[in-house]
Amino acid sequence: MYNLLKGKRGIITGALDENSIAWKIAERAQAEGATFTLTNAPVALRMGKINALAEACNTIVIPADATSVADIEKLYEESEAHLGGKIDFLLHSIGMSPNVRKGRNHGNLNYDWFQKSLDISAISFHKMMQVGEQKGIFNDEASIVGLSYIAAQRTFPDYGDMAEAKALLESIARSYGYRLGKAQKIRVNTVSQSPTPTTAGTGVSGFDAFLSYAEKTSPLGNASADECADFVISLFSDLTKKITMQNLYHDGGFSSVGISPEVVEAMQS
Ligand SMILES: NC(=O)c1ccc[n+]([C@@H]2O[C@H](COP(=O)([O-])OP(=O)(O)OC[C@H]3O[C@@H](n4cnc5c(N)ncnc54)[C@H](O)[C@@H]3O)[C@@H](O)[C@H]2O)c1
Repeated sequence: MYNLLKGKRGIITGALDENSIAWKIAERAQAEGATFTLTNAPVALRMGKINALAEACNTIVIPADATSVADIEKLYEESEAHLGGKIDFLLHSIGMSPNVRKGRNHGNLNYDWFQKSLDISAISFHKMMQVGEQKGIFNDEASIVGLSYIAAQRTFPDYGDMAEAKALLESIARSYGYRLGKAQKIRVNTVSQSPTPTTAGTGVSGFDAFLSYAEKTSPLGNASADECADFVISLFSDLTKKITMQNLYHDGGFSSVGISPEVVEAMQS
């Protein structure tokens, strides 16, 4: 390890179990010398294993529904008190669509659920930045990262209204990134990650096919959750101070490939 986050404080959302991308990021952040609080929705705290992670990372878990401004306010107040200061990094690793969960595609969306998908998976990113700015929780030169998926740019069957949520998430990163960049030299980026076997990932029907198609298409193969953690740590570090308002593909090259010999071969067999 390189002590890349030595002395930095942060907040990590979205660690549900050891498969979660946020779980790997928390482990890696700790190894790199950061201190941070963990948070997840109250219902996830009951179902998940986050307390074991908190113990391993010597920290606390603060319940917060990311769609609730009051919960986010409380999260920031309790984090600042626990960490002994403002924060240098924030991870948004939150996604959920009731329509995807219930198998409802673009021709059959429940619109109340659609709004829920957007609120949980994208608008919560805006809320975390707006509330954070209003409460003055961010140190100058802080780094904020949200996790995205290439369905924001291209159509994937069964990803449903999460595609719209990811497009909105990436747009929010640009809009709020400009604002926080001007005000405090804060970076805001999204990382567009390969399909990864987590609770959220495997909830998309046909996930195994997504995974193997992406593996066959990407010259470097799919990026794992551990590799995603490595990349996100670099974005939280001082080595990437001029990268902002970007959607950064962390996908083994998938996003730049048309078709690969492996996919051609699979089609012919
Ligand atoms: N797994 C993949 O294939 C993949 C690929 C690209 C991007 N992503 C994104 O990575 C992020 C993390 O997902 P993951 O794959 O680690 O799965 P995960 O299921 O482990 O994490 C999703 C998290 O969102 C949390 N969450 C849901 N509703 C919430 C709410 N109202 N308030 C607070 N937290 C809430 C869940 O409790 C869970 O911890 C998501 O944004 C997801 O869309 C995942």
